[in-house]
Amino acid sequence: MPSTLNSLHFHGLIRSRFKMQKKAYHQMIESPEMLDYGVYLQCDKLLSCQKPLADLCTADELQFQIVHQVEELWMKLMCFTLVDILNYMEKQQHHRVITLFSRVHRLQRLMIDQLDVLETMSPKEYQQIRLQLGNGSGQESPGFRMLLKLPSDIWEMFERIYLDNNTLTVSQIYDEDYAHDHRYAVAEALVEFDEQLQLFRWRHMFLIQRSIGLGSASLKGRPVDLLQKGANKQFFPKLWSIRSEMTNKWGEEYGKVRPSIHG
Ligand code: HEM
Repeated sequence: MPSTLNSLHFHGLIRSRFKMQKKAYHQMIESPEMLDYGVYLQCDKLLSCQKPLADLCTADELQFQIVHQVEELWMKLMCFTLVDILNYMEKQQHHRVITLFSRVHRLQRLMIDQLDVLETMSPKEYQQIRLQLGNGSGQESPGFRMLLKLPSDIWEMFERIYLDNNTLTVSQIYDEDYAHDHRYAVAEALVEFDEQLQLFRWRHMFLIQRSIGLGSASLKGRPVDLLQKGANKQFFPKLWSIRSEMTNKWGEEYGKVRPSIHG
């Protein structure tokens, strides 16, 4: 009997010691030592952009906030870079345009990959977080809203600079006068941007399917599967349709249904 009491006492001590340690660890996480690195990066401000650890509704809430905040930062960098791209398009600095588009494409891939982190959250625990959101949703994301505005300016600039004020056609770049030149390379950079944006929207739908299910309604009461319309949206439709136009044109020459090559 006394030994059971001793063991209970011992485990109680360990538990309360760990509780103390956890508090101390949390304090260290939230109040970092501010050396030059931290001062330059404003780590104190950055690490206080999330709810205080003591107020989290569930441990998963921290990753939920951080993933969204990181995505918002990537979108800030993407929008800033796209504005620079517009400037370099106008100045006809094609190599800059292509290099900066490559940065944007990498950021888009990162954004898609990072959605993955949230799939470690259980649907039940997400419901606790969902209660914290008011009726907010990603449709109100400042970065995403700006990202949806930029493609029309990019297309206008493309028409002005790379289609010579629409005296050239997309078909000339891709087919009749195809030269794999700067016009083609920039057009393909636009296509990649459009493709990655669609992929992000599709990937996000799978995240929704995994957490709240596609048959549910958003916090504004809209059916979630309405997002499919956005995911199908092409920002540069002429750069997509040229491919089927070319295939169909060639198909007329070599026959739409080809004979088999076996036997
Ligand atoms: C468990 C995690 C998530 C859930 C359950 C979720 C759920 C939703 C829902 C239901 C909508 C539709 C809102 C409406 O119709 O009003 C939406 C939109 C959106 N969410 Fe999420 N989301 C999650 C994570 C994220 C993350 C990490 C991002 C990061 C950027 C994000 C960005 C967006 C964007 C940009 C939209 C608008 C999409 C469009 O118009 O195509 N979401 N989300």
